[in-house]
Amino acid sequence: MFLSKKSAQASEVSKDGSSPDFAYMKPDSCYLDSACQTLRPQCVIDAEMEYYREYNACGGRVKYAWGSMVDDKVQQARKLLLQFSGKREKEYCVAFTLNTSYGINLVLHQLTTGAFSRIITSDREHNSVVLPSMTWAKRAGAERLILESADDGSVLYTPSQLERSIVLMQSVSNIDGRTTKNLQQLANDTHAQGGILLVDAAQGFGHDVEGLRDIDFDAAFGSGHKMYGPSIGFIVIKRSLLDRLDPFFIGGGTVSDVDLEKYSLLRSGDEAHAVLEVGLQNWGGILGLGAAVEWLNQQQPRKENEKALAETLFQGLRSHPRVRLLNHTASHVVSFHVDGIDSHQLALYLSQQEIMCRSGYFCCHSYLHHQMKLPPLLRVSLGLHATSAHIETFLSALTKILSAL
Ligand SMILES: Cc1ncc(COP(=O)(O)O)c(C=O)c1O
Repeated sequence: MFLSKKSAQASEVSKDGSSPDFAYMKPDSCYLDSACQTLRPQCVIDAEMEYYREYNACGGRVKYAWGSMVDDKVQQARKLLLQFSGKREKEYCVAFTLNTSYGINLVLHQLTTGAFSRIITSDREHNSVVLPSMTWAKRAGAERLILESADDGSVLYTPSQLERSIVLMQSVSNIDGRTTKNLQQLANDTHAQGGILLVDAAQGFGHDVEGLRDIDFDAAFGSGHKMYGPSIGFIVIKRSLLDRLDPFFIGGGTVSDVDLEKYSLLRSGDEAHAVLEVGLQNWGGILGLGAAVEWLNQQQPRKENEKALAETLFQGLRSHPRVRLLNHTASHVVSFHVDGIDSHQLALYLSQQEIMCRSGYFCCHSYLHHQMKLPPLLRVSLGLHATSAHIETFLSALTKILSAL
């Protein structure tokens, strides 16, 4: 639908894990920051460019042929994302947004006030969950509850704590790749107590969509830029939750009619998503995201390769006596600090050798800085573009730097 035959063939991976999908990368560039943004395969870039070059029209409004092409493709992208999430059109729909953070705020702050008594997160959340939960609780005059998480990634709670609650939680961590193990049980218990489950799936859609498919979430929020797509966000949301919104963030594209004093919103059937898509959308980005989902659906060999690379990386880091790893097990994302070296300085040394990884708290200040009282960390995150040469380059550069300091 979005990928040409040629691009599907280009996806084939050679034995060392490299492929023409990322042939635009300079050979000595070692990009290890995929938890922030994944690299875009050439076919995704092509799909977005094709829109700008060949049918640069607005969707949802125009009658000329370019507009119909956009509408068809946007519709296909919505269907693909729903299938990818393992959800049915009857129960869920897909809305496009700016990113995960924006989607969380958009839904949370338009929920009818008074319907929920508290908001619950875990102790390991990203700022894009922590901050909206704080502002929501303040606005609603409701309580905030922070659940402790166990080493295996499960959150600890008793069902009665969930009564009439909004549970807002990640499915996969951007610190160490841990999955929230008991998310499905949490969904069941939350629903039984009259609450809703909102999932921050910024990392989950790209790294554990299989796990997400089993979860009866009310809404899950994703970012195209963390799953090989353009910089765009999306929400997979239950139609029943859309009905419970009290929309005030509205404008062009969200209404069927407007009079001097009143308006009627598009809120049902094929157009239910419209209430979350205010104004013109990032059409090229949506089509690029469709291509990214198609591409991801074909990447089983690369996923296996990434797992093997994660193991090599984990073992390599574990063998350094000065490295203090946060991870208990191998993962596509690992965070650590090194005794006696500032992580920001270490990131700069690595960057001098074209090795790109992150330093700091990765927008998890509350957990890493204030609860764990850790110094700034270094984070290495793999992506499906990564090869064994990248891991060797990183590990040998780290060894050299550590032996010099
Ligand atoms: C777990 C998690 N949640 C939320 C976000 C926010 O995503 P975005 O910046 O795309 O809104 C991120 C981004 O790193 C993340 O890793």
